[in-house]
Amino acid sequence: PTFDARAREVRVPTVIAHRGASAYAPENTLAAIDKAAELGFSWVENDVQRTKDGELVVLHDDSLQRTTNVEEVFPGRAPWKVRDFTAAEIARLDAGSWFSPAYAGARVPTLEQYMRRVEHNHEKLLLEIKNPELYPGIEQQTLKLLGNEGWLDRRHLGRLIVQSFSADSVRTVHELKPAVITGYLGNPNLAQLHRFARFTDLVNPSYGSLSRGYVAAVHAFTGPHGRPLRLFAWTVNDADTARTTAGYGVDGIITNKPDVVRAALGSH
Ligand code: G3P
Ligand code: CA
Repeated sequence: PTFDARAREVRVPTVIAHRGASAYAPENTLAAIDKAAELGFSWVENDVQRTKDGELVVLHDDSLQRTTNVEEVFPGRAPWKVRDFTAAEIARLDAGSWFSPAYAGARVPTLEQYMRRVEHNHEKLLLEIKNPELYPGIEQQTLKLLGNEGWLDRRHLGRLIVQSFSADSVRTVHELKPAVITGYLGNPNLAQLHRFARFTDLVNPSYGSLSRGYVAAVHAFTGPHGRPLRLFAWTVNDADTARTTAGYGVDGIITNKPDVVRAALGSH
């Protein structure tokens, strides 16, 4: 394009299906990422934690209570923390009925099962290491599994971002595998941005805290791979907020309703 045409180009944010297309299928299940793929979205987000016997599983809360029937199956085991159950016990739970009878029998996926379905669906993954303070060594374990599944091969690195609310966890991921693209969840101030830009490629804040100035400030930093930091905002579920957020110049919008955001932005 000519210089003038380039100047008129508008940044269209990447749309990321939060916990899968979680407004339409139970969050963090294989059904939720199948739904995202069916709607035509390539990027999905998830949350990774660890069972009592050391298996990585995909679940948001540190308890199984909200999104499974664990209270019925294991009534005496309150508060039903993920880390107090084995993978075999979790595999017995129904992670779909709470959302809709149409999804009865959906399971809490292991990360291995999840990665294979992402691959099968030709999707890309924004993987969140959740509550890393509860799971010492989870960064190394997650990277090992990703490597075993081929996700750390050079040709796949553009399909993966590993993020966390814990700056320590993000730094650990970067130090263990410097080629992996990383994201820090939160709103770092300028002093923190100076430090975090050594190990994070993205800064991913809640949309409610954003301004055009803040997005520009983030973009002014250079990340560990020599490119400007990028910013994905979460969790935007309506058209007006999507347009406002896109207007701040964000690089991505994380949403439970990717179809709504795409329609609002005319993005792909
Ligand atoms: O990916 C951003 C978003 O998932 C962070 O918040 O609580 O939904 O994991 P949360
Ligand atoms: Ca998350």
